[in-house]
Amino acid sequence: MSQTGDVVLVVDLGAQYAQLIARRVREAHVYSEIVPHTITAAEVAAHKPGAIILSGGPKSVYEEGAHSIDPAIYDLDIPILGICYGAQLMARDLGGTVEATGRGEYGRTSLSVTRESHFLSTWAKESTVWMSHGDSITAPPEGAISVASTLEAPVAAFFDPEQRRYGVQFHPEVVHTERGQELIATFLHEAAEMIPSWTNSSIIETEVAKIKAQVGSEQVLCALSGGVDSAVAAAMVHKAVGDQLTCVFVDTGLMRSNEADQVEETFRRQFHIELIHVKAADRFFDALEGVTDPERKRKIIGELFIRIFEEVARDLGVGTSDKGPRFLVQGTLYPDVIESGSGHAANIKSHHNVGGLPEDLDFELCEPLRALFKDEVRAVGEELGLPEALVWRQPFPGPGLAVRIVGEVTRERAEILRNADAVVVDEIRKAGLYRDLWQSFAVLPAVRTVGVMGDGRTYAYPIIIRAVTSDDAMTADWARLPYDLVETIANRLINEVEGVNRVALDVTSKPPGTIEWE
Ligand code: XMP
Repeated sequence: MSQTGDVVLVVDLGAQYAQLIARRVREAHVYSEIVPHTITAAEVAAHKPGAIILSGGPKSVYEEGAHSIDPAIYDLDIPILGICYGAQLMARDLGGTVEATGRGEYGRTSLSVTRESHFLSTWAKESTVWMSHGDSITAPPEGAISVASTLEAPVAAFFDPEQRRYGVQFHPEVVHTERGQELIATFLHEAAEMIPSWTNSSIIETEVAKIKAQVGSEQVLCALSGGVDSAVAAAMVHKAVGDQLTCVFVDTGLMRSNEADQVEETFRRQFHIELIHVKAADRFFDALEGVTDPERKRKIIGELFIRIFEEVARDLGVGTSDKGPRFLVQGTLYPDVIESGSGHAANIKSHHNVGGLPEDLDFELCEPLRALFKDEVRAVGEELGLPEALVWRQPFPGPGLAVRIVGEVTRERAEILRNADAVVVDEIRKAGLYRDLWQSFAVLPAVRTVGVMGDGRTYAYPIIIRAVTSDDAMTADWARLPYDLVETIANRLINEVEGVNRVALDVTSKPPGTIEWE
């Protein structure tokens, strides 16, 4: 993907921050890729990077097994920015000193600029930075000058203008560091003289060209899930190869309110994309009859989805004629690529939104989003003209509402949950919280409770409100929704959704809970 001199390599030294650094570089409109610290100088040179950033790391540079980099990388004459552990590594490798002073700094720390320089030229004499270090740099690399300090870090920032080497003990990628993003941009645009050309339109241009080159005049198939990734991938492929693209949307009957209509409206009517809309709700409810075990539900839904997709693909001639689609679009994102550790050939996750895909169908993958982070996918989606409601949709599990219906999944219970979910989402949106929450939805348990409405006794289902904040779904915190909002949601659920007479709020974080109920 990299164009010569346009890529920044972020060397992952084992920190939780490498992805964040890579994203911040992109926010400065420069393309970035994460590479392992084992990368050799020759491999680095082959990427022709415009700059290198060494990330933080969890260890001390003197600890046994501490990560290091190929020292020949320093001789490549490429500007380097070391962050935290990365800066310590530069100090250790290049003639400075790092010492275990026994007094680390963690969290917000006051930084004093001790010497004027173009490196920190826009910084106030004192500012707040985010620190997380045990060891401290006590002398900068040979030829570098120290330009800032904190109470416990005598050399909190250094640079060597000659060699274009920069180091900061603090974390500029973290929002708590004032002017952190500016420092990254200054390093990229001024020190490394990189052109800020990574924009939504350049992303689209690059990807469209790649898709055209890959696909040629062949047919392409894309399974839409209703979610943002497959939608953006489809829109991008459509821009590249127009009516060579066919989309398939399998309505399982377990989708959110309006989801199927929106897919129709957007893809068929707005984009004029050939859309095969399979209305398969009956098949899914039949297959789920009497099933209460969560894992069995998932398995049944996943397998049926694949079977239906296979039927469609075979109807189109896949595997039976050479006219059928040869390529299959996948909405793989950059974090999936990094996590799979390969950098190539993403394995299709069974966890994938469309519930995994047929193994024996012979497709080549077309993955127009594999270089992008989620926020870039959304921005590109907006640029491509996809509706806001689709682009900003919260994540939704492949098995759909089924994993939010405890007990048997019937058409009636799915309808209750879909109506309840629409109310929760509507109120969360009205309160302006939809984008801030990772997910917010309704859950239907398998019990009914007694209530009283008007003069009569009711015996109906409760609805549980589930709302969480999270960065990546690995951990999550239950969202502290304002009580007034909870009350409004509860009133509407009970008044508007038939079959509901009680509302509860889930106050479980992850761990120990999961986000979904099943
Ligand atoms: P849990 O419930 O494990 O969910 O905390 C973590 C995230 O994954 C989503 N999720 C799924 N996504 N297929 C998917 O594509 C699935 O089977 C599935 N199960 C859970 C969930 O919505 C949350 O964002």
